[in-house]
Amino acid sequence: MIGISGRTRVCALIGDPVWHSLSPTIQNAAFEHLGLDYVYVAFNVSAENLEKAILGVRGLGIYGLNITMPHKISIIKYLDILDESARRIGSVNTVLNRDERLVGYTTDGVGALNALRYAGVDPSGKKIVILGAGGASRAISFTLAEYARELIILNRTVERAVDLARNIRDALGDLVNVKAGELADRNLERELKDADILINATSIGMKPNDSETPVRCDFLHSNLTVFDIIYEPLETRLIREARIAGAKTIDGLSMLIHQGAASFEIWTGMRAPVEVMKEAALKKMREAEGYNRGMKDDW
Ligand code: ATR
Repeated sequence: MIGISGRTRVCALIGDPVWHSLSPTIQNAAFEHLGLDYVYVAFNVSAENLEKAILGVRGLGIYGLNITMPHKISIIKYLDILDESARRIGSVNTVLNRDERLVGYTTDGVGALNALRYAGVDPSGKKIVILGAGGASRAISFTLAEYARELIILNRTVERAVDLARNIRDALGDLVNVKAGELADRNLERELKDADILINATSIGMKPNDSETPVRCDFLHSNLTVFDIIYEPLETRLIREARIAGAKTIDGLSMLIHQGAASFEIWTGMRAPVEVMKEAALKKMREAEGYNRGMKDDW
């Protein structure tokens, strides 16, 4: 690690829990690679301590923040300025302390957009099916609606999908083609036939439920790009079955890296070293896997 001095800019993750976060690894690798005098730490902050934590950020002059569960919405009332997309989406995952004013951004949507582009997939003019209507889907849907020919939002609780589609139309105008429906086989079968991109923004398939998948494998095909934002496990059942079906696949680590890269660029004004960040994350994940295996063997 670069020598920490009285001038070092401190960035921090605030969430609950943060113990297993890869963000410190990813961000410190990037700072170090570019020789920047920044350091990134993580604070476990409960919902009841959020206000005090933000007072601390102001008092200590902490330079940048990442915000994760469960504070992405509740943080908003403690900030001074919201960037346009954070305001629209109603969620903040990045804060910049600019001249003692806390400015909130969201990089979840642009993270997904850049993960697609990095994999050589341009969402412009494409039919995109997104599963889920929670916070992550909201950010991704708002961003991709501006590019897609057609965006279909499918969710278990159909009302949430309908609300999200309406919010997007209200914000972006009737020109965007956004539809909503229930996350059910009949809709998946119909919508996936001629779709170009499928994004899983639900938690279906996440550890410990990694034997689950949101989509029957016979609905997947080789003209699809399948993007799963889950990164634990790195290869979800959906990603595995998509690969077998001949689809192009993008995993959740790519989302994590590109969303982190966008935060890095907000804090530093420099281009993020995406490859370095990805390698650092993979190394850490492999170490954790070995450690967990070791633990199991010991038991
Ligand atoms: P996030 O911020 O990660 O998006 P969230 O806001 O809790 O988290 O959203 C989780 C998403 O996964 C929701 O779309 C949720 O569907 P509901 O709106 O119906 O709750 C979806 N989800 C979670 N578990 C699910 C399951 N077992 N089956 C179907 N959808 C599920």
